[in-house]
Amino acid sequence: MNHPYTAPVNDLAELVKKYATPLVIYSGDELNKRLATLQNTLPSGSRLLYSVKANPNPFVLKHFNRAGLGFEVASAGELQHVLKSGIDPGNMALGGPIKSKEAIALAISNRILSFNVESERDLQNIIQSSGHRVNISVRINPGFTNGDSMLKMGGLSSQFGVDENEVIPLIRKYRKFASINGLFMFTGSQYFDARNIIQNTRYLAEFAEKHKDEFDHLDFLDFGGGFGVSDQADPRELDMEELKSGLAGLFEMKREFLGTVRYKFFESGRYLTTTSATLVSSVLDVKYSKGKKYILLDTGINHLGIKLFDPARKLCIHTVKEYRQYSPAILTGASCTPLDIIQNETEFADVETGDLVMIRNVGAYTASLSPYNFCGFTHPAEVSLDAGGRVGLIRKRGEIENSCGSGYLY
Ligand SMILES: Cc1ncc(COP(=O)(O)O)c(C=O)c1O
Repeated sequence: MNHPYTAPVNDLAELVKKYATPLVIYSGDELNKRLATLQNTLPSGSRLLYSVKANPNPFVLKHFNRAGLGFEVASAGELQHVLKSGIDPGNMALGGPIKSKEAIALAISNRILSFNVESERDLQNIIQSSGHRVNISVRINPGFTNGDSMLKMGGLSSQFGVDENEVIPLIRKYRKFASINGLFMFTGSQYFDARNIIQNTRYLAEFAEKHKDEFDHLDFLDFGGGFGVSDQADPRELDMEELKSGLAGLFEMKREFLGTVRYKFFESGRYLTTTSATLVSSVLDVKYSKGKKYILLDTGINHLGIKLFDPARKLCIHTVKEYRQYSPAILTGASCTPLDIIQNETEFADVETGDLVMIRNVGAYTASLSPYNFCGFTHPAEVSLDAGGRVGLIRKRGEIENSCGSGYLY
């Protein structure tokens, strides 16, 4: 996995001088590279939806919009935010296990492309709210579970989707009242074995073909994805060549049937964005406690959020300078919780207060899954940096006035 930060250290020093740390640096070139790899892997005739939950950063959204992607949103907030970025609602699908009335109303008034429904109640809510007929796909929770996805969301008992044996009865019951014209399946995130993604895709294609007459016309198939990419120091990667040939073979085998389906989607969040961002932080203190060394950084659980709940926790951490001496140390944040451990005890450079430390691969499920305001901290400044060294400010550092959350009535 290549480091997306390409500018020389002098530029980094300048960036830090201008924006201070913690600072998040995005690389548009890295986004392009990941997108090109994934698009080249997916079968021709299919289309990619970007899962906004992975990272709703407007730089990322605009980048993918320019590249022609569709967008998968999961709430009124995401929908509103994506609309503000100037993205055409005709390129959006709304998902989520039960949609709020606000999300449904906003989606209908903006005429989004389609809804993915996940239960009878979810479907009824959409039918009751719709002034015009909207495109609806039913999310299947299949009767099998496969392999190695790290976050399982299908094939087992869960809040997601409609159990496989209830999908057709649901469609028969509501077919007269709604334009149910699609099927969707997303069984997990972080698949590293291509065979599992191919198996999921085949399952949905076969289920859809078998039941196609249950629809007035089956227009949408959303095969999900779960394309794995590691944000850790020992990266595992999905075999994209194996995936490409498996999916191409499947699409070829089902060519006649799939040719009758207008939209064939895959979804991805983390594969596209993980490697696009690097967090630069400063060492605030180096101290010893009961025989152990601690390096305290000006980032941590506030900005790295759920990443710190991985027990293996081996983030991709690098110093900017080279060091001669290394010794065992624990890296922590500066907030008041023992959960704020960035890295368990490991050999680390003998850094000093003021030195810079970079954490790579923070582009997915980092900003969007972090308790920014815990202990009254603020979000970091965010900039983009291109291969030519040009810098764009995406977001200013959060203001202390809003550090405990905005909107309170004093
Ligand atoms: C329905 C749905 N689609 C897409 C995604 C994106 O998954 P990933 O970021 O692994 O690509 C998720 C993640 O939870 C999801 O729940």
